[in-house]
Parts: sequence; structure tokens; C-alpha cells
Amino acid sequence: ADLHIIPLPATVASPCSLCNTMSSSSSMRISPPQEGEAKTNEELYQQFTKLVSSWPCSPALSNYQLYRHDNGWHSSLAPMVGTMVADACFAARPSDIIVATLPKSGTTWIKALLYSTVHRREHPADSSDHPFNTRGPHECIKFLEYQLYTQNRIPDLDELPDPRLFATHAPFVSLPRSVVASGCKIVCVCRDPKDTLISHWNFANKFRVGDGLEPLSVQAAADYFCDGVSPFGPCWDHVLGYWRAHSANPEQVLFFRYEEMSRDPAAHVRRLAEFVGCPFSVEEEEDGVVDAIVKLCSFEHMTGLEATKGGKTELTFGVVENSSFFRRGQVGDWENHLSPETARKIDAITEAKFRGSGLSI
Ligand code: PPS
Repeated sequence: ADLHIIPLPATVASPCSLCNTMSSSSSMRISPPQEGEAKTNEELYQQFTKLVSSWPCSPALSNYQLYRHDNGWHSSLAPMVGTMVADACFAARPSDIIVATLPKSGTTWIKALLYSTVHRREHPADSSDHPFNTRGPHECIKFLEYQLYTQNRIPDLDELPDPRLFATHAPFVSLPRSVVASGCKIVCVCRDPKDTLISHWNFANKFRVGDGLEPLSVQAAADYFCDGVSPFGPCWDHVLGYWRAHSANPEQVLFFRYEEMSRDPAAHVRRLAEFVGCPFSVEEEEDGVVDAIVKLCSFEHMTGLEATKGGKTELTFGVVENSSFFRRGQVGDWENHLSPETARKIDAITEAKFRGSGLSI
């Protein structure tokens, strides 16, 4: 479904400035501005921008400096502000489905799988005019903080048909409060932190070079990553937040691993379909619908599409070539880049952080 973003003129009160009933939740939350404080979208964004700007900020595994949110995670300014505006303004419905991932851990893939599974009736995966031919997964399922709650906008999402599909990189602790309260479905994917790091290092350097900055050495990137100064990091806290939410409420939070998806994508497509309430019928199974979805969303197929080769996606920091979301798509590429010592260091952090949680990667 297309999302219609309605930028309100600066002089019109946004829905958010009127929704102060939401300010009473847990102390971990940043309260939305109080009644009368933010009369326009612009003012609301300005207030959060001011707040974020007062928080610690440092160089990072990014082409931007990253701020440290009060809840302990890092992000550049605009997506952090977008996360907070979404927290204050996004009205989740129980029928919504939210993709929640750490950057570079399988977001593009799970978006593709979710969209093509949910919309398989109107857009069969093997049809020659599937939307993926013209729009990348990031245009089909938009990020709250990078695409919807950006540029002083409060999007009008009410007219979108159910089920509405959205995505976020926000950690569980900073999800829009209405998401948790609505009981809507959340789909998470995690990945070996070492591969996430290498993927992010490559991605960040592309933009650093474009911005005239020195590329980061892999060691500098690893140091930032281990210190938690990576977008939406620390990686381990992000993963644990969703893992615990999944353990407490597996009906609301699905938890996949990139490595297991790579091993058996069809089984994951079946689990995904069941989780979101549209399991495959016997007839669909016999017709090979699951395999068609797996093939459509495979790295090999997606990288060959015109929408990937020539398409672009507008994110809060600029227009990005869709091809930049695809690199190698392999498990274990870290071995080609990380020294054994750095790999051991990351594994030790992973083990220590996940000990006792029941999660292992
Ligand atoms: S982002 O920017 O957060 O949306 O990036 P994200 O999609 O999470 O991560 C990018 C990595 O995922 C790989 N990728 C895929 N793997 C398997 N199948 C498909 N369809 C797919 N699409 C993207 C992509 O290549 C990045 O991993 P690396 O290791 O860098 O190749």
C-alpha cells in the first residue's frame, strides 16, 4: 500500500500537540511536550531536536556523529528525533505489523518477505508485474523514523488499509508506546554481530567517502561497535530487548536469525505467514507459492531487479541508491575482514551479554 504523507503547514496544530494523554507512561519514556507547548509540527520537532542536542554526542561507526539517547542507545540526530516524534504521535492498530531490526541485520530481506507474503493474493510472487520490479522493499514498507516521521511531518496514516506494514530500527525500549499497547505484531531479525559490523562498516564508508570524510579502518569500526557507538547500538542491547519481548510474548513478537533464514528460507516464510495470520493453504503449498516468495526475495533475484539497480529511496538524510542495501548477502563474511583477535573480542562480548538470556547466536 502506498503511504500518503501529508505535510501540515507550520501554522496548523498537529495531532500530536493535542495528544498529551500519552505522557503518563513509564519513567523510561521521554514525555511528549505538554499541552500548549507544541502548537505546530515544526515546534514539536524543534523541542525534540533541542532535547537530543543536549545529550552526549560522539564520533561513531557512521558518517554522522551519534547522540546517546537517555534510554542508552545511539543514533544520528534526525532519526532519533523521528523515533521520539513517532513515539508521541504514531497511533498503532492491533492489525499493524512492525518490522523491528538493528541496521544491517536483514531488514531489507525481511521487509521483502513480509510484503510479498502479506500481499501474495493481489501480487503473486511469480507475476511479471510484481511491485518489487518498480519499488524496493524500503518503499513498500517504510521506516517510521527515516521516512514517515521526518522533515517536520506528521503523516496521516489513517486511510491505509489493514494490515498496515511499517518498520523501525528503534530498540524495544523506545518503540512508539502505542505499538506495545496495541498488541500489534512485531517481526524481528537478528544477525551475528560480526557480520552486522562488517556490513555496517562497508555501508558507512560509502557515505563517509561521499561526504568527503576519511573511510574508517575496520579496527576503528570494530572499536566503535564494541563501545556501542553504532546506529541504534549497542547491538547487544538492541537484540536482547527484542529477544526478551519475544520470550515474554511470542504471540506478539516473532524473532528470526539471519543465519537460520539463510539455511532454510522456506521454513521462515511459513512461520512468518502463520505469525501474521495468513498461513499458506494446502493448495498454495501445492502450487509452490512459498518457493516463489523465497525466490522473489532472494539476494540473487533482488539484486538483478531494475528497482535495485536503478531505483532510489528517500530517507531522512537524503536519497539513497537501492543497490546500497545489497552487498554480499552471505553468512560469515566477517572472516574476510576481522582479525581473529577482534572476532574473539566480539564473541566474548556477545557471550557475556547474552549469558542467562537463553539467546545464542
Ligand atoms: S538496512 O540499511 O538496515 O536496511 O540494511 P539491512 O537490510 O538490515 O542489511 C543489509 C544486509 O543484508 C543483506 N541483504 C540480504 N541478504 C539476504 N537476502 C536478501 N534478499 C538481502 N537483501 C539485503 C545485504 O547484502 C547486507 O548484508 P552484507 O553482509 O553487507 O552483504
